[in-house]
Amino acid sequence: MNADGIASTGALRVLLPAARIQDRIRELGAAIDRDYPEGPVYLIGILKGACFFLADLARAIRRPVRVDFIGISSYGRGKASSGEVRLTKDLDGSIEGADALIVEDIIDSGITLHYLLQVLQQRKPRTLRVATLLDKPSRRLRPVNAAYVGFEIPDEFVVGYGLDYAEDYRNLPDICVLEESGPPPGAERGLA
Ligand code: PRP
Repeated sequence: MNADGIASTGALRVLLPAARIQDRIRELGAAIDRDYPEGPVYLIGILKGACFFLADLARAIRRPVRVDFIGISSYGRGKASSGEVRLTKDLDGSIEGADALIVEDIIDSGITLHYLLQVLQQRKPRTLRVATLLDKPSRRLRPVNAAYVGFEIPDEFVVGYGLDYAEDYRNLPDICVLEESGPPPGAERGLA
């Protein structure tokens, strides 16, 4: 069990099938193409979960993109979040004067993005927006607005398409709810 009482193995219930995720990402890419002026969009992926979404979103955008990654570590999220966040890997390049778009897999409490937006705003990008695949607005502890949201989801523990439980499940093509007990990881998908 982890701190939230979730069993270390659990049944997987598909919440968002892979095809629906890809359809929605194509729509988000088209919206980004429409919204931005000339010039590249600087996609900033938050490690590690967002790298799957970033890879697909980048290919759904027709205008030029640049890709960079940033690492964030937060503490105390298991029970009540302490709100303590620190940078574990910085961007490789400058975003001064750039159209920067943070790419996130999920916004939960909002603590990660609230911190990151403050840090990156100080670097004087021309614009700074957020694209998140998933949003759990019912969990918010800090105000965060995403310009692009794939899906609003209920307060359930989700894995797959980059999202993990103890580093498992990131490679599932679907986004699944991890139920509290059941077969071992991958059994439902015939992987176990
Ligand atoms: C997850 C997710 C977001 C963050 C959202 O990252 O990828 O970055 O939590 O939570 P918040 O809105 O409550 O701050 P996690 O720390 O699990 O790291 P990972 O991406 O490496 O799995």
